[in-house]
Amino acid sequence: MSGMPTSSPPATDQLIRYGGEFAEVLIERASGCWLETADGRRILDFTSGQMCATLGHGHPAILDAMRDAGERVVHLFSGFLSRDVTELARELMAVLPEPLARAMFLSTGGEANEAALRLAKLHTGGHEVLAFAGSWHGMTAGAASSTYSAGRRGYGPALPGTMALPTPNAYRCPIAHCRERCDLTCLDAGMALADAQSVGAPAAVIAEPILSAGGIVPLPDGYMARLKQHCEDRGMLLILDEAQTALGRVGGIFAFEQHGTVPDILTLSKTLGGGLPLSATVTTDAIENDAAQKGFLHFTSHVSDPLPAAVGRAVLQTVLADDLPRRALELGGRLRAGLEELQRRHETIGDVRGQGLMLGVDLVSDRDTRAPAERYGSAVTERCLALGLNVNIVKFPGLGSVLRIAPPLTIAPEDVDLGLEILDQALGDCA
Ligand SMILES: Cc1ncc(COP(=O)(O)O)c(C=O)c1O
Repeated sequence: MSGMPTSSPPATDQLIRYGGEFAEVLIERASGCWLETADGRRILDFTSGQMCATLGHGHPAILDAMRDAGERVVHLFSGFLSRDVTELARELMAVLPEPLARAMFLSTGGEANEAALRLAKLHTGGHEVLAFAGSWHGMTAGAASSTYSAGRRGYGPALPGTMALPTPNAYRCPIAHCRERCDLTCLDAGMALADAQSVGAPAAVIAEPILSAGGIVPLPDGYMARLKQHCEDRGMLLILDEAQTALGRVGGIFAFEQHGTVPDILTLSKTLGGGLPLSATVTTDAIENDAAQKGFLHFTSHVSDPLPAAVGRAVLQTVLADDLPRRALELGGRLRAGLEELQRRHETIGDVRGQGLMLGVDLVSDRDTRAPAERYGSAVTERCLALGLNVNIVKFPGLGSVLRIAPPLTIAPEDVDLGLEILDQALGDCA
């Protein structure tokens, strides 16, 4: 846990800066929960890469699947199928409840949401789409139009019919109504506003069961069921985006199961490929049949590619065989207890929230006013990196300044403790 200099940063002068400045480390290799820099320093990865590598880096099951599929077939004409694709669909349906019955496999989360939105529009005949004000659904046009947490200014008009719903964050109630416990008033108020704006062409609501970029905000009890009812009342489909929450991270295979509500369309991405680009759009027979009859088209270069599908099978099989949801609950409990202990000692921690191994630490400059500690949040993540821990900060206006902590589900208990120790030091050093 010695201080880590940030010498020999990577050469960036020929790269486009797509998300602010790059981190000043050059990563050479990664294994399990650990990254190794070009100059031999080790960094504990508390974000599973970009929240994808839930099995850890270089998991043998993923490497074997890549090697094996690579020797058979990597890529095909998009109308051809391979056994890994049909088997991945079968294995996914075996763990999904009815009426979810059919899947298509794409590469990224944005693409899976794009396909979901196109299915919803074709099926309903509408084009109006609601998403949370703290949402992140991807960078392709439809997904980006329903992404409100960042990236809206400067790119021209969003798609017509896109509207925002208040994010049900009880710690930062969006309508200054609740404190600590959401009573769903923000949902009813948001739907009433959407009704007022509607031109009579409703299509879908797209939602994350735990908003991630929005500051790690789990949907409150009863919210998802009420949201589904609002959708049904208006002839809208409910699309759940489980990019980060599926495949074990929150203590079940899927987060929606904990809410007792089945979506009309489910999208999976990040965690499905365990670090490789693989995503899925899943829906019911009824919606698929209707869309097919209307000539549904979503033909991409890498739809149904065999190699990522083989990796997806390996990920799903490992999650089930190693009971990773249970592990996420156990280690998540250990991590949460440690974060709550830090909260007792550091005035700057206003709130600790999340589920399983997807936790958020809301940093404040004043516990009473809950004013977000934005500069402090950035300083803490930089200090953590210097001390050998990678944590991520989200700090968009209105969403607070929140550390996102989501290590691989395979993390060793002592590495959870080590990460907490480093965070403790960084919180103190930056105060
Ligand atoms: C909930 C959620 N949905 C969709 C996406 C977009 O996925 P991708 O970057 O793979 O397109 C993200 C990315 O962070 C996400 O967090």
